[in-house]
Amino acid sequence: MTLYSPGAPNPEGLASAAQARVFEALPEAQSAFFAPGRVNLMGDHIDYLGGVVLPMSLTEGTVLAAEAKARRDEGGLEVWALDASEKALLSSKDLERPLGDWRRRLVAVLAALGLTPETVPFRIAISGTLAGGGLSSSASFALVLARWLRGEGLGEAHDSWSLARILQTVERDHAGVACGLMDPLAIDLGTVDGALRLDCEQGTATPVALGFSEAVFALVHCGVGRRLDDGAYNRVRARLAAALAEEGFSADRLPPQGARVRAAPLRHVQSEQARVWAGCEALAAGDAAAFGALMDASHGSLAEDYGVSLPELDRLTALARGLPGVHGARLTGAGFGGWAQLLVELDAWPELHRTFAAKGFPKAFIATPGGAPRALPLGSSHG
Ligand code: GLA
Repeated sequence: MTLYSPGAPNPEGLASAAQARVFEALPEAQSAFFAPGRVNLMGDHIDYLGGVVLPMSLTEGTVLAAEAKARRDEGGLEVWALDASEKALLSSKDLERPLGDWRRRLVAVLAALGLTPETVPFRIAISGTLAGGGLSSSASFALVLARWLRGEGLGEAHDSWSLARILQTVERDHAGVACGLMDPLAIDLGTVDGALRLDCEQGTATPVALGFSEAVFALVHCGVGRRLDDGAYNRVRARLAAALAEEGFSADRLPPQGARVRAAPLRHVQSEQARVWAGCEALAAGDAAAFGALMDASHGSLAEDYGVSLPELDRLTALARGLPGVHGARLTGAGFGGWAQLLVELDAWPELHRTFAAKGFPKAFIATPGGAPRALPLGSSHG
């Protein structure tokens, strides 16, 4: 059985619910763009230490549709943020809004690309299918905007690594989250064939095919959404930096391989990096049992040593581990709620899906690699 057939997924299938919403909002759209979300298959909370991580882009993501303004006197960028049910004519003053406000983040992305909203004479509608936490909705939002702008010939040109550094700064300064580089890279360099091994120190990205014959990754929501701009993410980073310093290591690098570490957060980052390498081997060998065992160990480490799980994520992953057809379960991304990542036998998925719904976890889907940001055809899906 071919589970991940190479080749781009049907464009109409990409975040289709969001496509329907943006084209309904802007039936006369002249251009449309898609940026995927991402699931990190292994290697959480090590990207900001220059670690090697293993994310995969998704067919779920963010969609933007745009219409050029016919006349200059209509003003600059007008945005319909459909998921927030808000419409706004943006201005540079939006940079003064509170941290994390979508208008501030959007204008900050423009500014980082050398633009102001006043100089982008378009009406755009944006919607996404990544809500709930852990699938990188923020980076997807920023990238759909940045890559659509380039498609219109607007803003400075950047390769994926330099754009990721820019977006990392925007996220820190305008959303208050001192994140790493993984999310924008996982999205901008996403492939339709599988995952990516991203070396955040060396600046390299290597495609990694999913070698399983019958197993697939699935995502199940734990029922508790999360926000990172409440400071939780920055707090765990600060705690880690203090532990690194305390044991005499550099504050922004992984402890050297084989170094003896004592503090629990250091045990997590060191063991998580080892699990990424083992996970790459298990993926290449198509060994679902081995990859699943690494996922279980990763969850334990993130929960106990790093302290980023929640009771709901623990309950969901423990439930999953006890069910037939599940190879492993872990939180994915930053933690503190949101989506959990499972490795399951495809044949078992319909029954598993029913069981999760019956136990209070109805939001679930199979994770399919979604490629990189790209223009969407306007064709039959609108108008
Ligand atoms: C968030 C951050 C990433 C990364 C993950 C945890 O998604 O944006 O940079 O640190 O958490 O792996």
